[in-house]
Parts: sequence; structure tokens; C-alpha cells
Amino acid sequence: MGLQKMKRNLKVGVVGATGMVGQTFMNILEERKFPLAELRPFASDASAGKKIHVQNQDWIVQTLKQGCFDGLDLVFFSSGDDISKEWAPQAAHAGAFAIDNSAAFRMDPTVHLIVPEVNGHLVNSQSKPQVIANPNCSTIQLVVALKPLADAYGLEEVRVSTYQAVSGAGIAGYDELLTQTADYKNPNPKNATFPHPILFNCIPQIGSFNDEGFCSEEVKIMKETRKILNLPSLKVSAFTVRVPALNAHSETVWVTLKKQVNRDEVMTSLRNARGIMVQDETQKSVYPTPRNVSGEDPVYIGRIHKDPENPLMWLMWVVSDNIRKGAALNGMQIAEHIFDIKPQA
Ligand SMILES: NC(=O)c1ccc[n+]([C@@H]2O[C@H](COP(=O)([O-])OP(=O)(O)OC[C@H]3O[C@@H](n4cnc5c(N)ncnc54)[C@H](OP(=O)(O)O)[C@@H]3O)[C@@H](O)[C@H]2O)c1
Repeated sequence: MGLQKMKRNLKVGVVGATGMVGQTFMNILEERKFPLAELRPFASDASAGKKIHVQNQDWIVQTLKQGCFDGLDLVFFSSGDDISKEWAPQAAHAGAFAIDNSAAFRMDPTVHLIVPEVNGHLVNSQSKPQVIANPNCSTIQLVVALKPLADAYGLEEVRVSTYQAVSGAGIAGYDELLTQTADYKNPNPKNATFPHPILFNCIPQIGSFNDEGFCSEEVKIMKETRKILNLPSLKVSAFTVRVPALNAHSETVWVTLKKQVNRDEVMTSLRNARGIMVQDETQKSVYPTPRNVSGEDPVYIGRIHKDPENPLMWLMWVVSDNIRKGAALNGMQIAEHIFDIKPQA
């Protein structure tokens, strides 16, 4: 089965093809010269019949209906939880790998939650078609940063505060910031996607609140981090904030290690890790920012320093493109890993 997978071009479905993540997935198919035999884009009724141009061909957007995944090798889902819940198992049943970007299956103990640099070994070219979950965008960049430290020194505790871009709320979120910016003198801007105007603001709420005072984005980060790192009792505490950055999420991370190490050791572990780019020259104001990281593939890390009160605790600033590594790129890397494809970008 593994060898067969390597030899031929693949038939790929994308559910949510016209959305923020779906469109980026199309760009990535192009950039990485994915071996494509067929592309089947799916979206809502409103987009049915539109053409999507990828790899020198127009592909017509369809709506979901019984049998629509027949013959596909891989279906990438980015249309929200309800659509994934209903349709991703059908794609797997039809013989495709269903790579699901929603939260629907992430904490299902029978479903793998994959970041290739961290736990890619859980699936491989011998795996059978199944639903595979793509983690939350803020979780992905966090676990990529934590993995080399966990392996080398062990993790005692992780605290993270996020500064999340509006693109994380899809096209509607992106447009809301642009519209408010164009009308920036308006004292009462209209808001629909976010609970308050996002221009000139910070909103400490992403999703809905539970009885303990955590919002759903925070709960996702805490639970998914433990599952991906396979550290069920790791102490993780998250606080998430929406900020008026257009694209790329930033995180301040406080990580307590199990072993005392010096800065050179930490820097070497991070620099040598897959998928990480260290940018840390504070005297020259060099550290990653969402503006610089938007459109890039790696997880960028800067401001790496030790807490003066606790020699086991390290602080760092972690920035990554939430639509690329946080969603579409990670999904593509899972597919490349399963089908033994070497990206040609
Ligand atoms: N943005 C991020 O940073 C990010 C990161 C990780 C995960 N995700 C997840 O990815 C998913 C999509 O996010 P997004 O940001 O790309 O949202 P988006 O820009 O709002 O796009 C939503 C997509 O879903 C399609 N859709 C809506 N109703 C549909 C239906 N009944 N049948 C088929 N397709 C339908 C839309 O099609 P139309 O254009 O026709 O309406 C559009 O293509 C969500 O589950 C989100 O949580 C997003």
C-alpha cells in the first residue's frame, strides 16, 4: 500500500475551498508542486459553480452530496465543526484520508491529533484511510516550540498568553478589521465577528466561556497540548487575547523545565529543531513579529531568557502564520508524511 501511494498522483478534495484556510491550502498545493491528479473543491451553495485555478487547470466548486468523495485519496476539511462531524467520517469511509481542520475530532481518543514535527510517527505510509485531526492554530505553534525542550530537558509546567490575529476568525474576521480601519474615525464601529470592535483594541475572549472562567480557545490549547506531547499530566495554563494584527498569532510562553540548563543549551535545542527559526538579537531589536512572519512556514522564536526568580523557568516569544503552519500547511505536511511526498518548494 505504501509503495502504491508513492508512485501515483493523488485525487484531493478540499471542503471549505473558498475560505481563508481553503484558499491558502490551494496556494500551498501550487507552491509545493503537490502531485495532483484531480482537485475537487467544495463550498456552500453560494460558491457552487465558481472556478478555482490550481496547477494550470480550472476546477469547479461543488456542494457536498452523497458519494461526493468517491475515488478521492485525501480530503482536507476546513468548513467548521458541524460539517466535519457529518462529512469527515464519510470521506474516510469512502477510502480517503480525511484531514480535519475543525475541532470536531481533536479530543476523540480514537483520532490522531498530528503535528508532523512532534508526533508524526503516529501515522505513516502504511496507515489506513481514517480521520486525522489538525490541531488548533495556537496549539500547533506552541507544541512545535515545546517539543525540543520536552525531549532534551523535560517539561514541568507551561503557561501561555496569546495575541491572536483576526485571520484566525476566517474571512469575516479579516474583513471586519479592514472595514473598521478604513473608517477609523468612527467612534462606534460596527462589530459582528468579534464581541467588541477590534480596531485599536484587545479582546480577552476567543470563543465562549465555561463555568471556570476559561474561554473555549484556552481549553483547546490546554487539552490539545497534553494530547500531542503525550504528557497527560503536564500543567498547562492558557490565556487567549484577540489583537488587531491581520495575520500570524504571537504567544508569550513561560516554560518550566525539569532540569537546570544554560541559555546556550536552550538556544541550541531550539535552533536544531525541525520547523523552528530562532530570531533573537534583542540589542538590535531582532525578534519575530506577526507582520514579518505572515506568509512564512516556520514557527519563529525570540526573546529567549531565564526567569531571575526561578532558574528552571524560561520565557520566550513564539510567532507563526496561523493560516499556514496553524492550519493549511500543517494539514499539507500531514498529507506529505502519509503519502511519502517530498515537497518541491
Ligand atoms: N483561520 C484560522 O486561523 C484557522 C486555523 C485553524 C483552523 N481553522 C478552522 O478551519 C475552518 C475554516 O476556517 P476559515 O478561517 O477558513 O473560515 P472561512 O474563511 O469562514 O471559510 C469557511 C469555508 O467553509 C465553507 N462552507 C460554509 N458552509 C458550507 C457548507 N454548507 N458546505 C461546504 N462548505 C461550506 C465556505 O464556503 P463559502 O465561501 O461558499 O461560504 C468557506 O469555503 C474552521 O473550522 C476553523 O475553526 C481556522
